[in-house]
Amino acid sequence: DWDMGQFIDLEVEKIRKQVGDKKVLLGLSGGVDSSVTGVLLNKAIGDQLVCIFVDHGLLRKNEAEQVMENLSGKFGLNIVHVEAQDRYLSKLVGVSDPEEKRKVIGNEFIEVFSDEARRLDGVEFLAQGTLYTDIIESGTETAETIKSHHNVGGLPEDLEFELIEPMNTLFKDEVRALGEELGMPADLVWRQPFPGPGLGVRVLGEITREKLEVVRESDAILREEIKNAGLERDIWQYFTVLPGFKTVGVTDDKRTYDYTIGIRAINSVDGVTADWARIPLDLLDKISKRITNEVDGINRVVYDITSKPPATVEWE
Ligand code: XMP
Repeated sequence: DWDMGQFIDLEVEKIRKQVGDKKVLLGLSGGVDSSVTGVLLNKAIGDQLVCIFVDHGLLRKNEAEQVMENLSGKFGLNIVHVEAQDRYLSKLVGVSDPEEKRKVIGNEFIEVFSDEARRLDGVEFLAQGTLYTDIIESGTETAETIKSHHNVGGLPEDLEFELIEPMNTLFKDEVRALGEELGMPADLVWRQPFPGPGLGVRVLGEITREKLEVVRESDAILREEIKNAGLERDIWQYFTVLPGFKTVGVTDDKRTYDYTIGIRAINSVDGVTADWARIPLDLLDKISKRITNEVDGINRVVYDITSKPPATVEWE
């Protein structure tokens, strides 16, 4: 029977032998795969691992703080935290097409990451949290989309590294087991999938600071209530979206004209197909009341009851 403790010992030894006294670069997204890769590499080579964590301003509430607290604070990873929020937002002005947004966000990531990488000396290796499934499914649409945003493909020619992919024989459940064996907190190891372009594809159409704030706050309420109800691990992915249209409402006998928030919650094995999650109605009611009460500019909440196909998981 395959034992994760054994896997760690073997990989640590293999990584040390391969890397010698050189440095390894790793892009951290805050997701499970890159985080586990970071903790594993840190165990093997300590400060010879340099992580770059780009905050593109499209992260969920408190996400950057949590990544830094956990991985830098608790695990002692050497992390360059790049505050690139303004850079990204200025590039996204006037961009409303979903694929164009992804392109802009992806290209900006390559630029920010490359700028940071060029500042470092003695880096010969680039680590990636590629899984076995990323390799075998790289032909499918979903895997490709995920890949193009999670992985550091397409770096400029002056940045040439040897690849280290210590998890490329593992499936997702094995990566989670590995994370737990490495002592990583359950919150991180069981984190729901989050797209590379982040909240950028959950504010439909053009992105503004105000709209990002609305989707970020409503998403935080949804996640808090799902967690309090003990449903965190029962729903594969759940989030809010801001469609961007306004509807008429009424508060304290006064007419309002404000935005609508959509709640999306699905169950899936791999994201390729998905079934909309049956969140209990009383819980939905509580979430709806909190969002309309606590988030400025929202007077209506709707629940997406479409599976994939014909819908996709994300609205963009
Ligand atoms: P869709 O919307 O394609 O989503 O049904 C399937 C899964 O993929 C995630 N997703 C993305 N992940 N970059 C990513 O890294 C993307 O551009 C992207 N688009 C969708 C989505 O969150 C779901 O888990």
